Amino acid sequence: MQMLNIALPKGRLGEKVLAMFEQAGKSCPAIHEPGRKLIFENEETGVRYFWVKPSDVAIYVQRGAADIGVAGKDILEEYKPDVYELVDLGLGKCRMCVAGKKDFYDDRERTLRVATKFPEIAKAYYASQSRQIDVIKLNGSIEIAPILGLSDVIVDIVETGTTLLENDLTPLETILPISARLIANKASFQFKNQEITQLARQMEALCTKRA
Ligand code: PRP
Repeated sequence: MQMLNIALPKGRLGEKVLAMFEQAGKSCPAIHEPGRKLIFENEETGVRYFWVKPSDVAIYVQRGAADIGVAGKDILEEYKPDVYELVDLGLGKCRMCVAGKKDFYDDRERTLRVATKFPEIAKAYYASQSRQIDVIKLNGSIEIAPILGLSDVIVDIVETGTTLLENDLTPLETILPISARLIANKASFQFKNQEITQLARQMEALCTKRA
């Protein structure tokens, strides 16, 4: 039997996603054993899971190392991987925001300095507003950029808002709502169509049940 390869995002979201796949019939007892192994399979259900960094899921899926996977809408918007987006799983909900100091005033005469881990999302957003920006690409701790004067604002993910609040920043604009999406490799979707489509439907049904 041909295995269905599934890339799971490591972390809290991944655990929830795994629970959904298992409820949809793709159980894999070995993945629950303690240890640091990253690949698990169950021949009975025909599934092979592997844990990858959440931002890498789309790379595995686009290149066919995984048939399907779960990636955040933020990653799909930023990197625009050539994959099919099948289902909005309604998990990992948050939003992409512009945030800044509470007293931030946008002087449109000046180029806006924007610090972010998501330069493409930031560029597209400000281009749509015809606003000239200077993008400063950072890899983490984005919130300190406006405090230290490195940037005027940040474009970042806001979930509870606690990180902003504790760093004296405030959300200024919402760019896009984010949630986890089931994605598929384009060739796999053709060759394993029945299996992937059926699984996608089951995942969708589980989301509806949860809502
Ligand atoms: C994200 C984001 C914020 C934080 C927001 O970081 O960059 O720092 O979460 O969450 P909150 O609104 O609930 O406080 P993440 O945890 O993904 O870590 P990273 O910056 O290291 O990627």
